[in-house]
Amino acid sequence: MATPVTLTPVGDPWPERSSWPDHLYPLHGPDFARDPFTYYDNLRRHVGPVVPVSLEESHSIRGYLVIDHAIQLDILRNQRQIWTRDPRWYRDLAEGALPAGHPLIAQFAYRRSRLCSEGAEHAQLSGPGNKALARLDMLRTRDLIEELADQLIDSFFPDGQPADVNEIDILDRYALQLPLLVLMRLTGMEEHSALTAGTAIQEMLSGSAGAQRAAEELAVLMSDLVEHKRKEPGADLVSWMHHYNASGEAEPLTARELSEDIWLQIVAGRGASTTWICNTVLELMTNERLNEDVIAARCSMDQAMNHVMWTNAPIQNLIGRWATEPTWLGGYRIGTGDMAIIGLGASGADPAMRAVGLDTSRTNNAHLAWGAGTHGCPAPARELGALIVRTGLERLWDRLPHMELAVPEERLDWAMPHIARMPTALPVRFPRPPADQPNGESEEWTVTSTPRPAATEPIPPQQQHTSPFTSSPPRTISTAGKDEPSGPRGLLPRWRSLVAWWPKR
Ligand code: HEM
Repeated sequence: MATPVTLTPVGDPWPERSSWPDHLYPLHGPDFARDPFTYYDNLRRHVGPVVPVSLEESHSIRGYLVIDHAIQLDILRNQRQIWTRDPRWYRDLAEGALPAGHPLIAQFAYRRSRLCSEGAEHAQLSGPGNKALARLDMLRTRDLIEELADQLIDSFFPDGQPADVNEIDILDRYALQLPLLVLMRLTGMEEHSALTAGTAIQEMLSGSAGAQRAAEELAVLMSDLVEHKRKEPGADLVSWMHHYNASGEAEPLTARELSEDIWLQIVAGRGASTTWICNTVLELMTNERLNEDVIAARCSMDQAMNHVMWTNAPIQNLIGRWATEPTWLGGYRIGTGDMAIIGLGASGADPAMRAVGLDTSRTNNAHLAWGAGTHGCPAPARELGALIVRTGLERLWDRLPHMELAVPEERLDWAMPHIARMPTALPVRFPRPPADQPNGESEEWTVTSTPRPAATEPIPPQQQHTSPFTSSPPRTISTAGKDEPSGPRGLLPRWRSLVAWWPKR
């Protein structure tokens, strides 16, 4: 067990504890996993807008689940500066009260990252990453996503020959892979490091015995990437982060801080995009009216995705926020270091929001699925996340029309929805795709709707392995006005082995 920390992060002794309610409602177990929405609804009706909960059997991981939209927003905006996202304020953790080895404990590890910082430090740690993301040329990024999506769809038919009826697990073969491949490409990873990083991320998130070793391996890969791009910048996000880091007015970040931010972008971006793709596929396959409207273009894919943000948010609970001083929450006295859990998954069932929002859920984007306040998903990251998900879904709907669930919805197994809510597998069935679809053997399909040099044109050697979704940062660090505009850079290299290798679960 870790040595208990007896002082708060600002060096004061922890104040006397507020007492916890006698009864903690279980936020675990099969009923909760299968149908958290009915569960939240019952809690709201029988307990109230804030519910004292435990996240596992021993009741050691406990917090106040907030299921009311307005109170959620108040905590996230944090205008009274009571709440922090720095887990060193989590008193039960600091005092060593959490059960060793529980998979959720990794969520509470402090990292020298914007996620665990506040105020000026948060702004400093966020700067280079946000500015680099804002450099992305979204049209070209869309090309990249389409190309990777097509490679993945081609890989459903290893010999290029679809059967009359085809069945695959769309979560494993597509939703888990596409966002990670895109993010690894945008950060400028070489294929061989991306292979190792992909395996390490899978293992780290599996909660298996090797998770800790995988996390360490990933950290080494991220720092190698930062070092490599410092010496040899290219047309990628990490090189732009170096550029803004060296040319900004703030104190430059260390290599370690830069690599933490890249880690955060890949892990956070991948997790939420995967779940959003998966949940939208499921919604469209089970909500006939919505699917018909999407197919008939009465509803855009964006609108279908917005609906899912309300009804089955990719991130279900923000675990958590910690009180830096005693306060009141929904009638409960909260002590310094107690945890609030923002139940985003419960918002769609909030009667107040249902009254104003759910009828228009395709267009009303007042949901909190992106978070809010300082720690809300930053604007350029949202734009990228939505692009990955929309493009991925549009390619699926274009190339595999008539896709349907291969098992009844009630037979899907659900992972514990503490943070993300996804089935453990999403088997789908679809007929032979139309004959003129790309099949991976033809060269023609690499030319997308955006003009690119013809395949026969030689690609200059220095451009062969660059990705055309952003320009290269200027070599000489300078202030504004010297950035080169992005320009066409030739065909994207295919990641054949990466797509083919993907570990099957
Ligand atoms: C695709 C759908 C996405 C959703 C639904 C989503 C959702 C969220 C949410 C709810 C938070 C708030 C976390 C909290 O308050 O504790 C967040 C934060 C964050 N997201 Fe996203 N995200 C998405 C995509 C992405 C992508 C693609 C990236 C990066 C490339 C990204 C980078 C981040 C970062 C860096 C933060 C931390 C912000 C901070 O603490 O200052 N997200 N995201």
